[in-house]
Parts: sequence; structure tokens; C-alpha cells
Amino acid sequence: MSQEGTVKIKIEKKIVARVVDAGKEYKSGDTVITALKASSVELKTGELVLIIGPSGSGKTTLLSLFGCVIYPSYGEVWIDGEKVNDLPENKLAKLRLNKVGFIFQRFNLIAPLNALENVMMPLILQGIDEKESKARSIQALEKIGLGDRLKNLSNDLSIGQQQRVAIARALVTNPEIMLCDEPTASLDVASADIVMRELRDLARQGKAVAVVTHDNRLRPFADRIIYVLDGAISDTPVEEEIATK
Ligand SMILES: Nc1ncnc2c1ncn2[C@@H]1O[C@H](COP(=O)(O)OP(=O)(O)OP(=O)(O)O)[C@@H](O)[C@H]1O
Ligand SMILES: [Mg+2]
Repeated sequence: MSQEGTVKIKIEKKIVARVVDAGKEYKSGDTVITALKASSVELKTGELVLIIGPSGSGKTTLLSLFGCVIYPSYGEVWIDGEKVNDLPENKLAKLRLNKVGFIFQRFNLIAPLNALENVMMPLILQGIDEKESKARSIQALEKIGLGDRLKNLSNDLSIGQQQRVAIARALVTNPEIMLCDEPTASLDVASADIVMRELRDLARQGKAVAVVTHDNRLRPFADRIIYVLDGAISDTPVEEEIATK
């Protein structure tokens, strides 16, 4: 039922990333740690997905498979119709650079570079000239309220500001897939709201956005929620487990 006066824009939902029975094991001596059991999930354009679960449940592992940051121990990972399992590291790096924006849990800013240079880095790697890279990076930093911190080195920024630089760096290439690991963990309510609105807008513009979080304030922004518990994923809530966090 459509309300009078509202315009409904139909967003095409297309699968852009898919893990099929994919998971990850780490071997340490005789023991094997299963970070993620065989899982099948897909990310679609036009959709913001929240990935929720307790600490150590496998959320970052799942996101890292989608982001081609790690290879799966079993199963398949597909990005935009391309199976990434067998791609060599250089092809994988190119795919990451052009298709995926990744906000890491620990930000991964480059310490000797200032905020602006950190955000410019992926554009320079894409071969975009310095003038355009600079203009686009300033715009991305201004959008998240850091227009007055362009020249600060990452150590001279607060944790929340570093997080926002990492967000600007992921947004600046305008990637089709946006993966965010706890993007609001160090932010106050107002800044978290700005970031989530920005991510929701990206989804509305047709990007696939996945956000790992413990933050219940983010639930209203979700089109879909994936729960992760003990290395296994599910569509149904694991409320008690989350409540004990
Ligand atoms: N490189 C690694 N080597 C060995 N074990 C690992 C490695 N990375 C992750 N693990 C283990 O895999 C499990 C899942 O880790 P993961 O980082 O995916 O959890 P998470 O849900 O993101 O947790 P958190 O909310 O604390 O960030 C954990 O038990 C972790 O110790
Ligand atoms: Mg994690």
C-alpha cells in the first residue's frame, strides 16, 4: 500500500558477493581453530545488512572472506560473478581496490601519513591524478565532519576521528561493496548517526553494505540481519547470547 504523496523508488537488488559453504580454519600446532564453519550468505546491491553476534563468533572472519582479505579454508567466495578462490594475490588486490571498501576493526591507517593522504591513498593506487584525488578526499572528509583535520597525522587524531578517516577512505572510491567492521564502536551518538545515515544512503544508491556490530542502536538502519554464533550463521536472533555481551 503506498501512501499518498510519497514517491517509491524501486531499487534493483542484485547479488554482488556470495560465500558458498565457505569457512575458515586456523592451525596452531596440533589444534585447529574453526573461526567460521561452512557458511552460505549473499550480499545484494541496494541493501544494508547488519552482522550481529558475540565476540569471537566469527563476524570479522565472515567480513574478511567477503572483502577478499583472507582466502577460505573450504567453500567458495564469489565477487561480482568472479570466483575469487583461485585468483593470485595481485588479482585479488586489484579486485579489492576497485570493488570493495573495507573499514577495518582496527582502522589500519598509515601512521606517517596525515588524514588527507590516508584517504587519497586508494585513489592514487587506482591511478587517479593527485588533483582529483585531493578534491574527492577533502569532500569525503568534510562529509563526515573532519574538514578541519586534513593535515593531522593519525596519532594526533582521537580514536573516533581515526575511525571516521577510515570511513572516508573506504567511501572515497565509491565501491559497489562496502564492508564495515564495527564502524561506530568509538563514536558518540551524533557521529554514529551521521555514519549510519551515510551508509544507508549508499545502500539506497544501489551499493551492497554490510556492517558488523554489537551496537543495538544500529538495528533500525538494517534491511536484513545476519546472526553469527560460535562460527555459524543464522537468520534468527540469538538474543540471550547477545544480551550477555
Ligand atoms: N588469524 C587467526 N589465527 C587464529 N585464530 C583466529 C585468527 N583470526 C581469528 N581467529 C579466531 O577465530 C574466532 C573468530 O574470530 P573473529 O575475529 O571472526 O571474531 P569476531 O566475531 O569478529 O569477534 P569480535 O567481536 O571480538 O571482533 C575467534 O575465536 C578468534 O580467536
Ligand atoms: Mg571482529
